[in-house]
Amino acid sequence: MSLEMIQPQPFQKVLVTGAAGFIGSTLVDCLLAQGKEVVGLDNFDPYYDPQQKRDNLEAALQHENFQMYEADILDVPLLERVFAQHSFDVVVHLAAKAGVRPSIENPAAYFQVNVEGTLNVLNQLRVNPKTRLVMASSSSVYGNNLSAPFVETTETSQPVSPYAASKKAGEVLAYSYAKLYGIPMSLLRFFTVYGPRQRPEMAIAMFFKLIQKGEQVPMFGDGSTARDYTYVGDIVDGILRSMKRTEGFEIYNLGNSSPVSLLEMIQAVGVSVGKSAKIQELPEQAGDVTLTCANIQKAERQLGFHPNTSLEQGLSLYSQWLSRAGQTFKTLEQRS
Ligand SMILES: NC(=O)c1ccc[n+]([C@@H]2O[C@H](COP(=O)([O-])OP(=O)(O)OC[C@H]3O[C@@H](n4cnc5c(N)ncnc54)[C@H](O)[C@@H]3O)[C@@H](O)[C@H]2O)c1
Repeated sequence: MSLEMIQPQPFQKVLVTGAAGFIGSTLVDCLLAQGKEVVGLDNFDPYYDPQQKRDNLEAALQHENFQMYEADILDVPLLERVFAQHSFDVVVHLAAKAGVRPSIENPAAYFQVNVEGTLNVLNQLRVNPKTRLVMASSSSVYGNNLSAPFVETTETSQPVSPYAASKKAGEVLAYSYAKLYGIPMSLLRFFTVYGPRQRPEMAIAMFFKLIQKGEQVPMFGDGSTARDYTYVGDIVDGILRSMKRTEGFEIYNLGNSSPVSLLEMIQAVGVSVGKSAKIQELPEQAGDVTLTCANIQKAERQLGFHPNTSLEQGLSLYSQWLSRAGQTFKTLEQRS
């Protein structure tokens, strides 16, 4: 163990915002399995089918240690009630409007939820400064930075989409609250997360669907753009580690340190599905970055974070989940 590893602090009661989402619901299930008391909060935003989010929480809702608020982080009186009713050791703030491209269409909505909503959560912690905060940020804050792998100290003032700008604004706001009120916090920059329960509009989910149906896969650019895809189980492991080891104000990259090009990813999905992909080359899209690649040495040293799911394993686990969830997806498609 490294000398720099932050000493673990026990926790029992947790609030997870964005609890019904892809990463949030996976975290909730892990926390319940560890015997923690979990309060979830989510407004079931219709950015993608809310039924998928309800399915995500099906098991958790049967658990005696889980309580769910179907509520908006923009609803300040509601947040005040939640914090008055519970005493949290840790708040994991994941609720956000996610997705780069829709943020270009509707930047105001992204700033409202990702910045004003974050401010509302921070204002609750201001009066509960012993509660630790673990908050989702994003690799998108690195913008079109070519000096990969990205280190947490890299300049991040040039995001290339309103989504990225809103995540950066959330980080900066959180820093000011950490300094003013002494709230211990870890901000986690996730790098393209994939796996079971993945958001249906994310690239890998789309590739699986199109290749399974034998349809063309749109490839924006020449396929050389690359992403540091990280399996959701590894990301949740990193969140759990930081919940135990949050001290002062820290920013951590949670990534895989192993970028995969778009073309390689489409081909890997083809292998996983057992069909070759028919690729349709299209021009690059605004807001997309060329490369993401995490330097994770800080999270390795201070949190003991070691992602260990290979792309092959991760895609296989996603594919198995898709087959299990197949019935649900058929129903969703019939409805849409
Ligand atoms: N998935 C990724 O690759 C990725 C990468 C970087 C950062 N992140 C961040 O991780 C977090 C979780 O992302 P995800 O992929 O699980 O997305 P997700 O959309 O599945 O989860 C976000 C959840 O927040 C909820 N939400 C949205 N607005 C809300 C509001 N006003 N009040 C309450 N709840 C609200 C949504 O209903 C959703 O269930 C987000 O903060 C996102 O920005 C994700």
